[in-house]
Order: sequence, then structure tokens, then C-alpha cells
Amino acid sequence: MSSNRGVAYIEPGVVEVQEIDYPTFELRDGPGVHPDNVGRKLPHAAILKVVTTNICGSDQHMVRGRTTAPPNLVLGHEITGEVVETGPDVEFIKVGDLVSVPFNISCGRCRNCKERKTGICLNVNPDRPGSAYGYVDMGGWVGGQAEYALVPYADWNLLRFPDKDQAMEKILDLTMLSDIFPTGYHGAVTAGTRVGSTVYIAGAGPVGLAAAASAQLLGAAVVIVGDLNADRLAQARSFGCETVDVSQGDPRDQIEQILGVPEVDCAVDAVGFEARGHGADAAREAPATVLNSLMDITAAGGALGIPGLYVTGDPGGVDEAAKVGSLSLNLGTGWAKSLSFTTGQCPVMKYNRDLMMAILNDKVQIAQAVGATPISLDDAPQAYRDFDSGVARKYVIDPNGMLNGAAG
Ligand SMILES: NC(=O)c1ccc[n+]([C@@H]2O[C@H](COP(=O)([O-])OP(=O)(O)OC[C@H]3O[C@@H](n4cnc5c(N)ncnc54)[C@H](O)[C@@H]3O)[C@@H](O)[C@H]2O)c1
Ligand SMILES: [Zn+2]
Ligand SMILES: [Zn+2]
Repeated sequence: MSSNRGVAYIEPGVVEVQEIDYPTFELRDGPGVHPDNVGRKLPHAAILKVVTTNICGSDQHMVRGRTTAPPNLVLGHEITGEVVETGPDVEFIKVGDLVSVPFNISCGRCRNCKERKTGICLNVNPDRPGSAYGYVDMGGWVGGQAEYALVPYADWNLLRFPDKDQAMEKILDLTMLSDIFPTGYHGAVTAGTRVGSTVYIAGAGPVGLAAAASAQLLGAAVVIVGDLNADRLAQARSFGCETVDVSQGDPRDQIEQILGVPEVDCAVDAVGFEARGHGADAAREAPATVLNSLMDITAAGGALGIPGLYVTGDPGGVDEAAKVGSLSLNLGTGWAKSLSFTTGQCPVMKYNRDLMMAILNDKVQIAQAVGATPISLDDAPQAYRDFDSGVARKYVIDPNGMLNGAAG
């Protein structure tokens, strides 16, 4: 049997590279595996040699100790790989295929999957609708920040790249198809972005930057990105976005300076529940800040795309309400303005093929926009610390040394 190594969560602030099991066509017990998933047979799965696997802001919520993730949980839901083995029920995916894995695990058989709502598949997580690799409360599917990873329902889940050589040349762009590019795009689409729109995106992390690049792709007239991190705002300006420094105050006034009016057509929350306050409050966490500010600045009849993560339990919440995921929202404002809201996991499969075509045909430079930075598996613990410090980078782990410095 082949060996395997992966990045595991140990305790708040600590991850380490460990020897882990090589995948088999059965879900075995382990950290975070739901009892009802133990022993689940997976003849429909494929085993991938991981080509790239990215570190995500969603991983950081666990690593910061803001969830109930158990020790030794193998992390990683952003996976691109080469198929090395297929189960007996896999019909169309072949050994040797180079594929992108949507971070949502979905069955392709349930009502929600049939309606393309793959972020809330009913059959893969005994706890609740929706699942992901290497994530707390998601059923216990092993994470992909590893040399090898298993993908269930392979014929359904995997997106095959048409040409391997061409794909390896653009691998730092294509690796973003597993999560942040579709997620940012979903944020922009569900905010109603179209040709001529004015768009405000809260958060200049990788998801916010991907939403900004997506809004440009969708034809927005002006894309404004807000954050309190100067390096990340500079990164947003590097590809043509306007920026707002929320540590200087509420975005409303700065948006007025840019647009001449204190409102936008479309708004995206790419921050989530660990949001900081605005202006003098920027030093402290204020989880409802972004949602309340977006309701304030979005034009009546507009929409909020909310890829930013909100949780049902947060051991580090700022108060008792936040600890159970309850926030102080000015919903009256949203109601009075007839605003629409779209929350939840991005249904990656709805967008990944289209965005792959945009990448392969040079219609978007997503790796450049988000600061894609390749690293080795052994560099992952340091990269987690650097990402947590707020560098304007999206770390792309190359666990099998397959990038050869060719991409970038
Ligand atoms: N819905 C999905 O499917 C999905 C997928 C991927 C990530 N996410 C979530 O999207 C969010 C962003 O991910 P990321 O990787 O970019 O994370 P990140 O932590 O790197 O970026 C968040 C950014 O928000 C900034 N910020 C904090 N308070 C702010 C405020 N009031 N206004 C503006 N900016 C503020 C921070 O300085 C930081 O730069 C996370 O919550 C992540 O869990 C959701
Ligand atoms: Zn992610
Ligand atoms: Zn399903």
C-alpha cells in the first residue's frame, strides 16, 4: 500500500504535516467522521494524486479555534489532481485524467443535486445538508491538503480538463476552480452584477478578490473593494478595482467620494462572521458589521451576495448571542429596501466549467488577481501562519512536486 501525508489541525494556531492513511474505497473512522458515515462503501469514488490544494479562509476559521473542529482533522477542500485509481462503479472518469474537485461533496442523486444545489446535497453528511472535504461538521470526508485524496461519486463530482499539457500551463489559475473563483463569481452573480453595475465587495481576501475579478468579467462599470488591510487593498488596485479602507470609517462616505452617490447596485460580503468593526471600531470584532453596512449602501431593490461564512456555533464569539450564531441585524433596513440575500456554500458545479473555459481562453487572470503562491506540503504550517497574518496571497500547496516551477 502507498503512503500518504497530509496537513492536520492540532489545536488553535497549530497545524502539522502528518503521516495519514492512503485512501481506500470505504470511509473509515477518524477525526470528525460521523458515526453514520463510518464504513460507508465508495465504489463510485476515485483516488487522486493531488497536483494542487489551496489554503482557504474557511480553513482559518477552524485553525483559529473558532469552530469545534477535532484535533488531527486532515484539512483541505480545494483539490486539483490526477486520477490514479477508480472504483468499480466509475464509468467515465479514467486513470490519468487531470481534474478539478468542487469543494462541495455531492451525490448527484438527491433532490437538491438534481436542482443543481450541490452545496446542500442531502446524502453525504448525516448531520445536515451540505458537505466538504476536511471540514468540521461536514460528515468526516478526509481533507485534500495531502499527497493523495479520495473523491466520492467521481463521475458526477469531477471536472476533467480537456488537455493536460495546456492545463498544467494554467494550473495556478485552474486550481481556483475548486472553490474561490466559483465562490467569488457566485457572490457577484447573486448580488445581481451585470454590464454597467456598480459593485461593492467587503473583504479583499482571496474570495473578495475573486469576486472582484468576477464582477469585472460580468461587465461591472465600477468595482469597489473594502478592507482594513493595506496590502490586500493594494492587491485589489493592481487589477483595476477602486478601494475603500474601512478602518477610516464606514464605507458609505468613501463610496460617495468614488461614485458621487453613497450607494451601489450590488454588494458582496466576502468577510463573514469574523468581521471587524468600521472606523474607530476596526480594532475589534463586530460580526454583524458587514451585513448591516451592505444593507445600508445597497440601492433599493438590489441584492447581497453573501459567500462570507456564518456559523451556528462559535466558541470564540464576542457575546453569548454570537456564540450560537445569532447576530444583531438591521433587517428592517433590508426589508424596507426590498433587498434580496443569497447565503450558503457556493454550488461550485453550477459555474466551474464556464469559468474553466474563461481561464483556458485567457478571458480572466484569476491567479494573478488573488496572488497565487505555490508552496510545498512541508511549507504549509508556515503558510497558515502567514495567511493568518493577512498577507495578500493565496497559498497553493504542491504536495507531490508536480508544478516544477512551470506555472506562475
Ligand atoms: N460560501 C462559500 O462557499 C465559501 C467558500 C470559500 C470561502 N468562504 C468564506 O468567505 C470568507 C472569505 O474568505 P477568504 O479566504 O477571502 O478569507 P480571509 O480571511 O483571507 O479574508 C477576509 C478579509 O476580510 C477583511 N475584513 C474583516 N472585517 C472587514 C470589514 N468590516 N469590511 C471589509 N473587510 C473586512 C479581513 O481583513 C480579510 O482581509 C470566509 O468567511 C470564508 O469562510 C465561503
Ligand atoms: Zn475554500
Ligand atoms: Zn445529493
